[in-house]
Amino acid sequence: MSLKNYTSINDIDHIETWIQEALMIKSNPLKNNELGKNKTLGLLFFNSSLRTRLSTQKAALNLGMNPIVMNVSGDAWGIEFEDGTVMNGSTAEHIKEAAAVVSQYCDVIAVRAFPSLTDKIKDESEHILKSFIKYASVPLVNMESSTSHPLQGLTDAITIKENTTKKRPKVVLSWAPHVKALPHAVANSFTNAMQKMDVEFVIANPKGYNLNPEIVKDTLVYHDQKEAFKNADFVYAKNWSSYEDYGKVVKTDLDWMITKDKIGAAKFMHCLPVRRNVVVEDAVLDSENALVTEQANNRTFAAQLVLKKILENV
Ligand code: CP
Repeated sequence: MSLKNYTSINDIDHIETWIQEALMIKSNPLKNNELGKNKTLGLLFFNSSLRTRLSTQKAALNLGMNPIVMNVSGDAWGIEFEDGTVMNGSTAEHIKEAAAVVSQYCDVIAVRAFPSLTDKIKDESEHILKSFIKYASVPLVNMESSTSHPLQGLTDAITIKENTTKKRPKVVLSWAPHVKALPHAVANSFTNAMQKMDVEFVIANPKGYNLNPEIVKDTLVYHDQKEAFKNADFVYAKNWSSYEDYGKVVKTDLDWMITKDKIGAAKFMHCLPVRRNVVVEDAVLDSENALVTEQANNRTFAAQLVLKKILENV
């Protein structure tokens, strides 16, 4: 299957096939290093990044593409996304011109733009991502938007497939503490990905931290972390701010921190960056059951698969 844009886990037609394709790429990353020759990938960051920024560039380089990167928030003109605005404030350039111009320099555009966490309706409208899709004339890759992080979700599916010893492992997505209000994107895309896989998937979160019911669907949600962790093969930790009391931190103690005692022999996953001894204790991250570095490595092959599918279509 070729691909126009990659904006959500729903763009994956058959996740098991995509995982196998990504593992083939991992076994021979330079096999298609002519596919992207003379093609340019533009990476636009409205927010910070280590893994996404480097792994997506690495993926592009493995395909023979030329990546160019811009920190939009720090270095570009302030972009206006509303239609019909009298632009006499802080924004100096409209997305209509910005996206059209970048499309002339790039064959594929990748965008990272986090939510405000103050305006639920606007965040859920995905106005930045959708504006780029509307006004760019080239394919678009979502490098984490207001509500989804599909490169991470695909990566996590690949990592679980590589590390499972069971046909149908039990996978728990657990909320974990944090000092700041964080987006729901990683948890949403992980949930979307697990719902497409043949796994026993459950979510554990404190009361007040239920994810969007349209994402959770009929996935079992526990408010008792210990109960959820029983017989778990994989524990995926992630903080997110309240969805119901949108963007708020409503629990500040460390009761839900992931510890070795709690997860036993289960493999530990986290998208990174992670705050040690707040989200998860050192003993877990420093154990052989921690898959976090392998996950970060697989970011390259997930991105490479997505770019390969797009390049086959341009
Ligand atoms: N996991 C992830 O997206 O990492 P970065 O925010 O560093 O890109």
